[in-house]
Amino acid sequence: MAFNMVASHAKWPQKNDAIFGLAAKAKDAIDKYGKDKVINSTLGTLVDDDGNIICLDSVYTELKSLPNADIAAYAQVAGQADFLEAVQDACFREYRPKAYIKAVATPGGTGAVRHAIWNYTNPGDSILVCDWFWAPYVTISEEFGRTVTNYEFFNEKGEFNISSFKENFENLLKKQKRLVTVLNTPANNPTGYSLSDEEWDEVLDIARENAKDSENRIIFLVDAAYIDYAGIGSERRKFFTKFSDLPENIFVIIAYSMSKGYTMYGLRSGAAIGISSKEELVNEFYYTCMHANRANWSNGTRGAMSVMTNIAKDTAKKKAFEDEVNKYKVMLRKRADAFVEEAKKCGLEILPYRDGFFVSIPCDNAKAASDELIKENLFVVALKKGLRFAVCAVSEDKCRIAPAKIKKVLDDLK
Ligand SMILES: Cc1ncc(COP(=O)(O)O)c(C=O)c1O
Repeated sequence: MAFNMVASHAKWPQKNDAIFGLAAKAKDAIDKYGKDKVINSTLGTLVDDDGNIICLDSVYTELKSLPNADIAAYAQVAGQADFLEAVQDACFREYRPKAYIKAVATPGGTGAVRHAIWNYTNPGDSILVCDWFWAPYVTISEEFGRTVTNYEFFNEKGEFNISSFKENFENLLKKQKRLVTVLNTPANNPTGYSLSDEEWDEVLDIARENAKDSENRIIFLVDAAYIDYAGIGSERRKFFTKFSDLPENIFVIIAYSMSKGYTMYGLRSGAAIGISSKEELVNEFYYTCMHANRANWSNGTRGAMSVMTNIAKDTAKKKAFEDEVNKYKVMLRKRADAFVEEAKKCGLEILPYRDGFFVSIPCDNAKAASDELIKENLFVVALKKGLRFAVCAVSEDKCRIAPAKIKKVLDDLK
């Protein structure tokens, strides 16, 4: 038997991150063949048509104008008070739920996902996630001795599969009496799907029905990492008002991220925002997450918090920031439209795309397809149930070319 120094709960397969590995291969191909010849659709980072990461001027001008002390000093454990106000406005805009709400700063949305999974489940519990999902939900759950149960995201008509959701939701709740359900919407990674307001009503009706059993504790973790690239204006934020006046045993946590919306991926900032009809339950959330902050990373990135706060407080800065985000939102939309249009023309089946950084292609042999596509210098991530194409990382022209190439490889593999 292998000799280990790590304790048994901390022993994991010794493997590197597959997506970052593929991105490195794509970079090698670019160095070898030139960037015109390579389609690098791997990382979930917004890049320009030349393949350079987009860094919002409004954000980085603000960051670089901060006094050194404002970057160097520790932040409050829960986050700076003005940031905790600003982040709620950035998240909800005009659709703030009528409820008690409190935020705690976290290092990116990941920190908020971590807090929800750790603090709202018991050892051995399963969390509910759809079958097209961001892999770290599993990594985080495993780290804490929790598991993940998948429901089918789409039915045969390609619509949100509410009956699969209901079945799995009720099964787990019956067993555990406590359930964290992750909904990564709007602009789901990897599919680009956003739940409609009607679909949200259906989900919340099921939750309300099950909340009649006062022993049940229902927690929704809404992972809104890509919300700033969803819909027109604030339309994809309307669903937030549905979290008004919920029964006290339904608690909502929003994982808000500054990574994509502010192009601050590496600066690690975001928030967990708790929503409840009962004041003592948001206070409980706040102090529990504050304790968890102290226990894990102590406090967040102060300079990143100041960037959001300073932009929010200054009308001109806010306008410049919003105009910039909007420009890239339009760019993203054009790329995605090009991909969806060409997929339709060449008969490539894709999942319903509504918003955001990614489009997904369902297929049985994703790894083999991805390997074949590497030979064509097209780098696309293989998931369990298909391929993920990152429109955020590929120019509109290349988004037009890619679907036919993918279709051909999938047909050849049949
Ligand atoms: C679905 C999803 N949730 C959350 C995150 C969290 O990102 P971060 O921790 O950088 O905010 C990401 C980033 O890739 C994501 O894709």
